[in-house]
Amino acid sequence: MTDPLPEPAGEHYRAVHDPECFVRTMHLTKSYGPVRALDDISIEVRSGDIFGLVGPNGAGKTTLMKILSTLIKPDKGVAYVCGNSVWQRPSVARLHLGFMPDYTGIYEDLKVVDYLEFFAQIYRLPAESRGRRIREILLLTRLFEKQNANIRALSRGMQQRLHFGRLLLHDPDVLLLDEPTSGLDPHARADFLTMLEKMRHERKAVILSSHILPDLDRVCNRVGILEKGRLLFSGTLPEAGERIGGAVRFRLRPGGDVDSVASLLASRPQTRDAFREVRAHDAHLDLYLNDGTRPGDIGSMLLDAGVRILALDQSRPTLEEVFMGLTKGTVS
Ligand SMILES: Nc1ncnc2c1ncn2[C@@H]1O[C@H](COP(=O)(O)OP(=O)(O)O)[C@@H](O)[C@H]1O
Ligand SMILES: [Mg+2]
Repeated sequence: MTDPLPEPAGEHYRAVHDPECFVRTMHLTKSYGPVRALDDISIEVRSGDIFGLVGPNGAGKTTLMKILSTLIKPDKGVAYVCGNSVWQRPSVARLHLGFMPDYTGIYEDLKVVDYLEFFAQIYRLPAESRGRRIREILLLTRLFEKQNANIRALSRGMQQRLHFGRLLLHDPDVLLLDEPTSGLDPHARADFLTMLEKMRHERKAVILSSHILPDLDRVCNRVGILEKGRLLFSGTLPEAGERIGGAVRFRLRPGGDVDSVASLLASRPQTRDAFREVRAHDAHLDLYLNDGTRPGDIGSMLLDAGVRILALDQSRPTLEEVFMGLTKGTVS
């Protein structure tokens, strides 16, 4: 017979005792003079989550990362990392954390492998497992072939991957990455994100801030949208879509010219009433359904209107659409 489960006793209890809850903040508030950088922020990030922190410059992303990484103290509220309050038990919290601040580039005049060896010693990795761990990290970051290269000779993208690899040496549960892809070219960004996606399988909790919305859309399963220190939304992307009323969106690739299809849909009462909005793109149209429209009727409605359909998919709105909907275009 097993012990009965303890009664859940509120937010704090959960933050400390739920083994899957890797990061929990409650009502975090922080001001710099008159500027309220964070206002009553409560988020939860669980094992296996890649949580995207979205927001324009000045939204408070770095402030939140710094509080979680034990560097600065909030005016109000609490934060837990793997059950440890970042202010009451900072040294224990830090053992669970890997923090990549928003400056980039490593300028040491060192070989890649020596750099990792140096930090492995700082983290006191046992000598017998150090070599194996470094090899795993070189493979994960795709720097194995470059292990004897000087860091200065690496591309910016490789340096960023090395920096990330260094965070993993002590196998932390929580990774805090502040704008890790900004300043990287598209290939380097894609490489970085591919590497990051693997963290989900390792059951780590990743908090990733960015204002490059397609990047977050690609790797995150949950997002928090920050604006002027306030959390406008926190949850999964489909939930965010529902919040802006754009949950049902069809993407249509028509046989003909998109603009003439858009005019055709606008000219017929049946299709005009079915869609809240029709947006024409280069080769496709996005059709946002009105509340009363049944998704199952869309195909026949388009065929009745004489539209030739090459592809028609119901899909969720992108993070960009959600963000623009929630912030009403106030992004700087
Ligand atoms: N050390 C500081 N002193 C004064 N104001 C600051 C300081 N750090 C941040 N701020 C202000 O707090 C707000 C949030 O900043 P930050 O957390 O850096 O946002 P983000 O990372 O989203 O760009 C901004 O208005 C910024 O100017
Ligand atoms: Mg920042």
